Amino acid sequence: MSIFSMAIAHMKNKAFDQINETTDGVKETDVLFLITVPAIWNDSAKQFMKEAAFEAGLEKECVELALEPEAASVWCKHLQLDIDPSGPLSKEGARYMVVDIGGGTVDISVSQKTKNRNIEQIHKPDGGAWGGTVVDKHFLQFLDNVFGAPSMARFRKEDHAEYIELLTLFESRKRDDDMSFMVFSLSSLVQYTGEKNVNTNIRSLGLQDHVKLIKSKRLRIESPTVKSWFEGPIKSIVNLIIDLLQKPGLHGIEMVLLVGGFASCKFLKDQVKEAVGSRAKVFIPRDAETAVLKGAVEFGIRPTNIQARVMKQSYGIAKPVPFDRLRHDSSMKEHGMDVVNVFEQFVEIGERFKTGEIVSKSFMPHKGTNSTQIEIYISPLTKPRYVKERGCKKIGDLLIKHRGRSPRENIFTVLFEFGKTEICVRVVMQHTGAEYSTAVNCI
Ligand SMILES: Nc1ncnc2c1ncn2[C@@H]1O[C@H](COP(=O)(O)OP(=O)(O)OP(=O)(O)O)[C@@H](O)[C@H]1O
Ligand SMILES: [Mg+2]
Repeated sequence: MSIFSMAIAHMKNKAFDQINETTDGVKETDVLFLITVPAIWNDSAKQFMKEAAFEAGLEKECVELALEPEAASVWCKHLQLDIDPSGPLSKEGARYMVVDIGGGTVDISVSQKTKNRNIEQIHKPDGGAWGGTVVDKHFLQFLDNVFGAPSMARFRKEDHAEYIELLTLFESRKRDDDMSFMVFSLSSLVQYTGEKNVNTNIRSLGLQDHVKLIKSKRLRIESPTVKSWFEGPIKSIVNLIIDLLQKPGLHGIEMVLLVGGFASCKFLKDQVKEAVGSRAKVFIPRDAETAVLKGAVEFGIRPTNIQARVMKQSYGIAKPVPFDRLRHDSSMKEHGMDVVNVFEQFVEIGERFKTGEIVSKSFMPHKGTNSTQIEIYISPLTKPRYVKERGCKKIGDLLIKHRGRSPRENIFTVLFEFGKTEICVRVVMQHTGAEYSTAVNCI
């Protein structure tokens, strides 16, 4: 947590240094800080990010999360991708897919233009860990295989500056459109492993036609091996795009926009265009690397830019009920009790929620109790039956205190607001009308 909050504090200070150069009197509380997070993150990871921001000294009211692929689609909705300003993306009902290909993750969102030039999400966030750093990992694994793990460990430790230089050089070669070959000067590594052993390793890996030691200290790697480092993540990205384009509910997507740093990779662009081009037009906007940043700013100014979201999991609460052997599965019984906790569902995976839309349920606590504990669960299933089912996970607790004289006076309504970037929960005591918000503790 400290590392995250230190990073956030550093960025905040940098931003204020710049603001103070041009403007006087801006206070921290005048600013809304938007922290972008991948949409495929779970609720607890999102909450962790917010807590890190609070620890960095930001005020609670001044921090909002923005979902990265959504931010990218907010920005992309302005793009004029056609010479005709009334081209396909400008029309109401136009559907487009934004694929944010970053360093760690690939996040995909599918949006549809609404009447007032806003957008709504028409599919749950999707993606995977197929960003540009996977290529770096493959490169390092390749070096491990060629030189042996002990030499690599020694190189990292004893020649750290050289190691960092190698990574920097690889980063710039990775960004080069020409991938015909790569050459690296690796004298320490060759010395640690021994030239003979390096050549033996190359042969036993079956790479003798594509990888060669030249002038003893330099390693020349030909295109097929270089490309093999990129192929895994690119294949996963292409497969998911095609999979989504084929979904019955997602017909009519005319455009696929690639944004994020790794989207600038020529090899990746070419592969995606070749695989997807017959189904939809593939565009890489000019400012692909900064799409998330710019879209997040616009989202912060006008959150109604996103009018609806699609839930990526089912939500519900544990409801203890007496075990009934005709209706319930006996393996779901609570240990030592004649009780099963059924999954009282609030939201179904894939369900669409307008921003700010609320789902509510009322509860009457048992007689003689002065508090009720509500356990909130998520599930990947469409209709989960029990909270103990496979894949169901508890994400938080709510403790509701009640002071009424009878169970009827203690009836309360729990309101879940699902259309936002995080879950917001409010509780209203029906008898008194007292209302209070409560945070779902997801950590
Ligand atoms: N021209 C290029 N060719 C290949 N890779 C590139 C190119 N430009 C940037 N990258 C890669 O893109 C990645 C960084 O992209 P970006 O800045 O979008 O990531 P991020 O937003 O920090 O990560 P994430 O979205 O996963 O949190 C790095 O792995 C970098 O090597
Ligand atoms: Mg990113």
